[in-house]
Amino acid sequence: MSNNFYNKSYLSVDTLSKEDVLYLFDKAMTMKKLVKEQGGNDSLKGKILTPVFYEPSSRTMGSFAAAMLRLGGGVVPMASMANSSAAKGESLADTANVFSATSDVLVVRHPEVGSAKEFSDAAYVPVINAGDGVGEHPTQALLDALTIYDAFGTLDGVHLAFIGELKHYRAVNSLARLLALFPTCKLSFISAPEFSLQDETRKLLNDRKISFKEYVEPDEIINEVDVLYVTRPKKEMIPEDQYERAVGKYRVTNNLVSKMKDKSIIMHALPRLDEIATEVDSDPRAVYLTKQMQNGLYIRMALLEAILKEQA
Ligand code: CP
Repeated sequence: MSNNFYNKSYLSVDTLSKEDVLYLFDKAMTMKKLVKEQGGNDSLKGKILTPVFYEPSSRTMGSFAAAMLRLGGGVVPMASMANSSAAKGESLADTANVFSATSDVLVVRHPEVGSAKEFSDAAYVPVINAGDGVGEHPTQALLDALTIYDAFGTLDGVHLAFIGELKHYRAVNSLARLLALFPTCKLSFISAPEFSLQDETRKLLNDRKISFKEYVEPDEIINEVDVLYVTRPKKEMIPEDQYERAVGKYRVTNNLVSKMKDKSIIMHALPRLDEIATEVDSDPRAVYLTKQMQNGLYIRMALLEAILKEQA
């Protein structure tokens, strides 16, 4: 397997091949061993990462920073762009130039679809998309796919069902598109019709002849799924009087998960509101507070090393 990430930006899962995904999984497993046995190493000593976050984040920003630090690199302490010169009106392009001058890699999150590409076009160091509006979250997809791979030893033949408010959830787009690289995967989408999968992702799955089906009733499919992927309703994008319609019967409780297979897993990118009851947290199939987040560290270590070191 070869490193196709060196010195390149990572903005969308659509640029990945199946080999790229498996290459990163292999590296992530090495990173897991490294962290467990030594805590880290100096592989990226002398390299600097700057997080450029125009939207709040705990997991993504925290795990990118931890990943860089565990590999011996440095992180510019930009907690939020609200305290940067963006607040004085500095453009995305100028900001990309500013941080390119002082960094080896930039990690950007922004509320507009396409903003990561716009930022990357102006930057002159590699840029990683940490979420652009309702568009994509391509490193979330990598850690999600790694978590599934970890649980089942493969992505081939796995049946994943997304549930909840799917329309505004970028992690659904990215993971569904990544899994389209593994054509024997089966995808189900469970939601109220007005909060269903985005058209662009539906079209991509159709174009690639991926087996997928959309459901309104969770009970139609819940007993068949290997992975239940719960999504956070984007409260800020849903009229208040439609919130219960988006979440109501899709709320994940012990009653719903009692209908799932014993060997299934329950995932969520987090943070959550009330779409998944805390009673589910202690179910042995729930991986969202444990393995899923730990894999975020390992896959981001793998990605950073692949981008910053040619012979990674
Ligand atoms: N999963 C995720 O993107 O979480 P944060 O918003 O906390 O980064």
